[in-house]
Amino acid sequence: MSLTESADLRARSTDQPAMNDAGALPPFPEGWYFVASREFILREKLIEKTWLGEEIVAWCDDAGRVCVADAVCPHIGSHLGPEVGGQVCNGRLVCPFHGFEYDTTGQCVATPNAPAPRAARLKVYETREILGMIFAWFGNGGRPPQWELPTEPTTGQEWCELGFNILRFRGHPQETTENSVDLGHLRYVHGYDKVQPVGSVTVDGAYLKSCFDFKRVRRILGVKDLVYEPSAVTHVYGLGYSFVEIHEKTIDMNARLWVLATPIDGTLIDLVLVSHVREIRKPRRFISGLGFLPMKLRHRLMNHIIMSQQKRDVLQDVVIWERKQYRPIPRLCRADGPIGKYRRYCRQFYPDLPRSLRPQ
Ligand code: FES
Ligand SMILES: [Fe+2]
Repeated sequence: MSLTESADLRARSTDQPAMNDAGALPPFPEGWYFVASREFILREKLIEKTWLGEEIVAWCDDAGRVCVADAVCPHIGSHLGPEVGGQVCNGRLVCPFHGFEYDTTGQCVATPNAPAPRAARLKVYETREILGMIFAWFGNGGRPPQWELPTEPTTGQEWCELGFNILRFRGHPQETTENSVDLGHLRYVHGYDKVQPVGSVTVDGAYLKSCFDFKRVRRILGVKDLVYEPSAVTHVYGLGYSFVEIHEKTIDMNARLWVLATPIDGTLIDLVLVSHVREIRKPRRFISGLGFLPMKLRHRLMNHIIMSQQKRDVLQDVVIWERKQYRPIPRLCRADGPIGKYRRYCRQFYPDLPRSLRPQ
């Protein structure tokens, strides 16, 4: 997972003037939000981060149970993160101040000199895991999960490993997720061609589905134009989890993209872009030498291409998102797509949203 990219963007973002917050949305809508990949947690042993305005830690015990918890020791308040000296020993998180030990349920189970106080318990978050991506629930006023993430998509040897890009910038998860129904900007900002909605956007509780086809022309070596014709099916589960299934018709390629918007501190968000591609057995046409590559390499190479395209697209949006203001009553035109429907869908993620900010 690339953290240097997010550091680059962070440096750029924080130099910019603060967004005028007149009409701003509450910064932390309720939902499931990405914490880290299991692989990253295992590699680091203990991670700390600022997540939806909270200081959190995450670690994994020897049985593979992941714990995401507030990074505050209930004993007398030390921070528990690795930068302060917190560490994981035998699957338990050990506080750097007096050595209290916590298991992955958050319970204090040992101290160096006395029996563990039963009331010493970390505030833990409900977690879910999808293909090694760990999510935690952020509830309004601490309330428990109100809905579920989808079941894990089937995977296997034919799918390449997940690729990650993380971009950090000034933004809001509702604004970034709105892109999936804002069809007008796809052509205007990203240069997509012939964007066609397929059916209408559907909403079922916290789940929103949107489908569209488009064309994309790529110039190879400054001479030859290759036309791609993807169909995209977007599954949105709240404002922290968007999952897009792509089928590209001209080469018969299947890809999956995740766009995981994660508020940091009320101003910045991490947009975590994840993708993988299924084996391309018989490309329907020649694509930049892909047909000559061994089959095992084709989909990996294609994942790199998709990752760089997706990053380039998102950076085109970031320039706009960073200075954009939320308009509770947007003045829409016919070609905009179902932005009003999307806004009404979003309402459920702010149980306490003031009337002045409610979508009409
Ligand atoms: S503050 Fe954590 S053990 Fe004392
Ligand atoms: Fe976009």
